[in-house]
Amino acid sequence: MITNRYLTGFGNHFATEAVPGALPVGQNSPQKVPFGLYAEQLSGTAFTAPRDENRRSWLYRLRPTAQHGALVRYDGATRLKADGGVLSPNRMRWDPIAKPDADVDFIDGLFTYAGNGGPDAQAGVAAHGYAANRDMAGRAFMNADGEMLIVPQQGRLAIATEFGLIDAEPQQVVLIPRGVRFRVALPDGEARGYVCENYGAPFRLPDLGPIGSNGLANPRDFETPEAWYEDRDEPTEIVQKFGGKLWAVTLDHSPFDVVAWHGNLAPCRYDLRRFNTINTVSYDHPDPSIFTVLTSPSDTPGTANCDFVIFPPRWMVAEHSFRPPWFHRNVMSEFMGLITGAYDAKQGGFAPGGASLHNCMNGHGPDQASYDGAVAADLKPHKIDNTMAFMFEARWPYRVTDWATECPEMQLDYDEVWQGFAKAELPK
Ligand SMILES: [Fe+2]
Repeated sequence: MITNRYLTGFGNHFATEAVPGALPVGQNSPQKVPFGLYAEQLSGTAFTAPRDENRRSWLYRLRPTAQHGALVRYDGATRLKADGGVLSPNRMRWDPIAKPDADVDFIDGLFTYAGNGGPDAQAGVAAHGYAANRDMAGRAFMNADGEMLIVPQQGRLAIATEFGLIDAEPQQVVLIPRGVRFRVALPDGEARGYVCENYGAPFRLPDLGPIGSNGLANPRDFETPEAWYEDRDEPTEIVQKFGGKLWAVTLDHSPFDVVAWHGNLAPCRYDLRRFNTINTVSYDHPDPSIFTVLTSPSDTPGTANCDFVIFPPRWMVAEHSFRPPWFHRNVMSEFMGLITGAYDAKQGGFAPGGASLHNCMNGHGPDQASYDGAVAADLKPHKIDNTMAFMFEARWPYRVTDWATECPEMQLDYDEVWQGFAKAELPK
C-alpha cells in the first residue's frame, strides 16, 4: 500500500520531484532537462492574468503530452450532459441515486442533474453526480471544459493524477484543475458522490473581511500531492470532455509520467471536518455565505459564479431566534446535496446521497416538522452533530437535464413539504 504524501497550502508555488535531480533548478525550460525529460507548461489562466490570479505549473515528463493521434467521439457516459436542458422554476428534490446495475467506472458513472452557463462562455457550473462500482482500468479522464470539485458521499476514491496520488473519503473533497488527467480507483468497490464542474474562474478561498486572518477553510489544510509517476508502456485510453462532448484517444503509454513539477496549478484535497465554523453567539444567524469553503468569482464584485458552501456540525446558541435556515427567496440558485446525517431544515425526504434544487427567486425553507420544532424549541445551547450538507450556489439558474427530470429518484411531491402551514392570525 502506498502512503500518499502531501504538500500543504492553497495555491502555493510548490516544487516537487519523484526522482532526485529531475527538477531543473533556476529556470523552467533548460536546453537539456535532467534525464532527457520533456518540459511542458500547463496554464490554468491566461498568460497575462494578474499575478495574484495567475495559475500555471511546469511539468517534467517522460514524453510530451502532444504525442497522441486524433481524438474520436466517445459514446459512453450517456447521462453526462453539457449544461442541462429545461429551465424550470419548480423546486426539485431527488432520492439517492440507485447503484449501477452493471459494471461502471467513474467516467461512465457520471450523470448530470443540472447546469448553467457553459464552456464556451467560461462561466457557470454543472452539478453532476457519480455512481460507480469499478476502477478505471487502462484509461484516464481529462476535462478541458472546467475544473472538477469532487465530493465523495459513499466509498473512498484513490485518484492518480499527473501531479501525484490523492486519496479521499466522504467528508473530504478533491479539486482537479481544468486539463489535468486523472484516474479513479475504488478501494471500497463502490462509490457515490457529487461533482461541481466549474466553467468559470478557478475556485479559491474567500476573502475573510472582518473575520480576520484566520477561519473558515484554513489554507494549510489543503493538501497537494507530491510528484509521483508510473513508467508503463501499456495502452491507455484518454477520455476528454471538450465543449460539452466526450472524445477519446488511446496512447501507447501511461499519461501519469510526470517525474517532477513546480508551480501553483495543481490538484488538492480538503477535509471538510477541518472547517473552522463561524456563526452567531448572540441572535439570528448570518447568511449561509458564512459557510463558504471555496468561491469562484464572476466579473461582478461580490457576486460569485459559484460558492461551495457546507453546513457542518456546529453549536447552536442563538437566543430568542429561529435557528434553522429561514424561509427565503434568493437571486442565486441553490443545488444542495447531503454527505451524511440530516440537514437541519428538513426532517424527512432529504437523504444522504440525495439532492435538491431551488432556482432563482423561488421560495423555500424549513419543512413543517422542522418549523414546528424550531418555534417550540427550548433554546438551550445544543450541538448539531453528525451532519455534512453542502451547496453549489450559482449565479445563474440551473437548467435541469431530461434525465434528472424523468429519473425514478425525482420526488414528484416535493412541494407538499410547504403546504401545511397555518395562516398567521392577526388580532381581531
Ligand atoms: Fe436556500
